[in-house]
Amino acid sequence: MKSNSINEKYNSLYEWSIKDPINFWSEQAGHFVEWMRPWTDVLKKSDDKTHAKWFLNAELNVSSNCLDRHLIKRGDKTAIIWEGDDPDDRRQMSYRDLYKEVCKFSNVLKSLNVNKGDRVCIYMPNIIETAVAMLACARLGAIHSVIFGGFSSNALKDRIIDTQCKVVITANEGRRGGKNIPIKNIIDEALIDCPLIEKVVVVKHTQSDANMIADRDVWYHEAMQQSSDVCNAEAVESSDPLFILYTSGSTGKPKGILHSSAGYLLHCSITFQHVFDYKEDDVYWCTADLAWITGHSYVLYGPLSMGATIVLYEGVPTYPTASRYWEMIDRYNVTTLYTAPTILRTLVGMGESYLNDSSRESLRLLGSVGEPIDADTWNWYFTKVGKKQCPILDTWWQTETGGIMLSQLPHMITEKCGEEVKPMFGIVPDLVDDNEKLTTEKVGNLVIKEPWPGQMLTIYNDAKRFEETYFTNRKHGGYYLAGDRALYNEKGTLRVTGRSDDTLNVAGHLIGSTEIEAALIKHEAVAEAAVVGYPHPVKGQGIYAYVALINEYEPDESMIGELLQLVKTEISGIAKPDVLHWTPELPKTRSGKVMRRILRKISNNEFDDVGDTSTLVNPEIVQFLITSRAQYGV
Ligand code: PRX
Repeated sequence: MKSNSINEKYNSLYEWSIKDPINFWSEQAGHFVEWMRPWTDVLKKSDDKTHAKWFLNAELNVSSNCLDRHLIKRGDKTAIIWEGDDPDDRRQMSYRDLYKEVCKFSNVLKSLNVNKGDRVCIYMPNIIETAVAMLACARLGAIHSVIFGGFSSNALKDRIIDTQCKVVITANEGRRGGKNIPIKNIIDEALIDCPLIEKVVVVKHTQSDANMIADRDVWYHEAMQQSSDVCNAEAVESSDPLFILYTSGSTGKPKGILHSSAGYLLHCSITFQHVFDYKEDDVYWCTADLAWITGHSYVLYGPLSMGATIVLYEGVPTYPTASRYWEMIDRYNVTTLYTAPTILRTLVGMGESYLNDSSRESLRLLGSVGEPIDADTWNWYFTKVGKKQCPILDTWWQTETGGIMLSQLPHMITEKCGEEVKPMFGIVPDLVDDNEKLTTEKVGNLVIKEPWPGQMLTIYNDAKRFEETYFTNRKHGGYYLAGDRALYNEKGTLRVTGRSDDTLNVAGHLIGSTEIEAALIKHEAVAEAAVVGYPHPVKGQGIYAYVALINEYEPDESMIGELLQLVKTEISGIAKPDVLHWTPELPKTRSGKVMRRILRKISNNEFDDVGDTSTLVNPEIVQFLITSRAQYGV
């Protein structure tokens, strides 16, 4: 199809989705999803629009949508091409074999007393069994919560406790960059304080043994041996939850984002089809870890529901060399690559020569997600990786939105970063000012004005926080507040530029500054700490911590080591500050509020414009911080 006609098709579908959402979604739901019982109503929203229910009283099963429905037509088609951290570690699985494996594991879970509505935590490397575990939960109507393998035992414990799950699925070890990661030990440490846990299923992913705890731990391969490969998929209601996924907020504990079954699946499938222009013979590779929302929606559920062949990769982009991605693209004839700017920036930094030994001729489309993509990285992706032949799809969305909300269209080769961004079907974006009123200014805070099918249901265990975080303006419009700043460029294209709150986006991972501060002040020497972001050449945002020590303590190398270790233990290695700036105290207002605005300016080296300091009780500290800033280099 010519690009004009694709554009026209998009325009007319988009218009339909906005003017007549009920009929639009009814038609799409019939096309993209296989149902076990039809709906009585397409959509019911609360008067303040904070809660929306889609496809009421209908039933489906997400796992059977991803597997069973493909068996006749695509049973022998490769569902997953897996490559391990070690390039010689390779495995492929057809739709039929994946279906059988999922059925068997569903029966294992049943035998461990996992039922519809129960929560199951998954702490695994990026391997086929992780996908199997997620799909098996979905098959039973159990709610999975996948936790990123990089989180510490403390972070893991908090999440496991919040889900109140009885069963955890893990592996003896993971592998990354040639190193073995002892994830079973981390789980064991976390579970000391999780009394509800009854069973731990352990996948033997590497040759090493694991310390199996009698009556609690079960080897995956042993349990699977005795398990039948017949397991009927449970019918679940449209709004029954499919999963909980934790994400950081600007304050407090991470939020358990709860997603539905039907609306979520529909949103993932329709966006996968339209954004990636999916075709039956595509080999599609989204490099995200299954533990992030991108892994849920665009490694697993969207592509498998469409019967796609996906690539799943365990390791890092630079092991054994920075050619790894490009070699894999040639090895598997990947047509569509969906990755993150932070990965691209790492590869740019390693030098162009790593591209030389691959042709990448199979590539048709290139996607980006997770943070704003800067013009230099975009140019490298477009010119070097895609040789100016592949459109770049810069997709904006969030854990909370379930799937892609804004993106370029797949047929459009734009010569510049950030052009021609379109809202997905049913998505009505707009900007509000800092008082949450709609604005005609070109810059503002991004809102979504109408509910959409993939929208989160709520925050697990905290409905009040859900309303207070995303719908503070519910009295004037009930718009979903994304927490992002956005702008319209000269051509009227909307572009997201970054967070508007105190969450940091570090290498594509959201981290709450208050989480890092809470970890730092656990150290007996720390009186107070404040964390802000600053521009970082590879990570996008780096972590800059201002730390005030109690009088009798002195900052030195061992103190730095202890504080960094503390953050790693409390949260994860990815949350470790890049800079620790020592200060006698933090700049505060008379009411005791830390002036983050000023701290941000100083960490960004913007000293001319620190703004009004007259409301501070200790304005002299600002000059101290400016003067001492230079010694922290970055
Ligand atoms: O700030 C936006 C940024 O990542 C945030 C969402 O992070 P998370 O829930 O972890 O989901 C990441 C994967 C969808 C957003 O609020 N973000 C994500 N994609 C983009 C982006 N910022 C600008 N451009 C993007 N394409």
